[in-house]
Amino acid sequence: MAFKHWPLVRDVRFAQKCGRFLRGARKRRGDLNWDEFLRIARHFKTDDMGSFPERGYLFQLASDLPAGAKVIEVGSWMGASTCFIAGGLKGAAKIHAVDNFQGLSTCGEDAAWYNRHFQSMGKASTLEIFQRNFADLGFAERAEPVVSDSLAAAKQLEKMKGTVDFIFIDGDHSYEACKADILAWSPFVKRGGVIAFHDFGSRADGVTRAIFEEIKAGRFAEIVGVANTIIAFRM
Ligand SMILES: C[S@@+](CC[C@H](N)C(=O)[O-])C[C@H]1O[C@@H](n2cnc3c(N)ncnc32)[C@H](O)[C@@H]1O
Repeated sequence: MAFKHWPLVRDVRFAQKCGRFLRGARKRRGDLNWDEFLRIARHFKTDDMGSFPERGYLFQLASDLPAGAKVIEVGSWMGASTCFIAGGLKGAAKIHAVDNFQGLSTCGEDAAWYNRHFQSMGKASTLEIFQRNFADLGFAERAEPVVSDSLAAAKQLEKMKGTVDFIFIDGDHSYEACKADILAWSPFVKRGGVIAFHDFGSRADGVTRAIFEEIKAGRFAEIVGVANTIIAFRM
């Protein structure tokens, strides 16, 4: 086991990094419930799918949504990003969490990583883990897993077009798939709603290229904000 994964080392690193992030976040947005963020972050201490600024930004975007907001996430994996979003939501808000839950991706680098991960877990799906994480944090009511390929799910949820307050896309990271996700999912966001993407400007250069092309084509009304590799737009 790598030194950084030893439980004591991991806990010290978590306390330092999360503490540093929260000191800044509480100053910037003192109106948000950062104790709730910390509760979720503690639950996902071993998660490495996103940084604290990225998790914090999702929590902030969700906290700024109206009560009862409609949310879609494409690419939920074990539910960490989904739970940070759920933690910020109010009232009867719901997240449709779209994922094949099998790491089936056309992005070669990702597919190899998922294969290794599933082998070491001895499982063929992350759905059960996703559901357990939601239940453990008391968010079960907020999640509606949609076990499906992204584009098939867009057809299945067609009735929600033009009604969604917030969409977070973090699914297949190939250029073609990200482009198809933008085209399929952006019509779901209502006017004034927000669409955000993970991995803009990261090693996943197909994601960056697809988003950049859509910025140039005028698909988004304005940039709402950026946190590490998350970029959010208003539609
Ligand atoms: C990077 S992970 C998501 C991580 C998660 N958003 C987080 O931050 O905790 C990407 C997920 O997208 C899913 N995925 C990849 N391609 C997909 C597709 N075409 N349709 C549905 N899900 C897909 C994978 O199964 C994987 O769970």
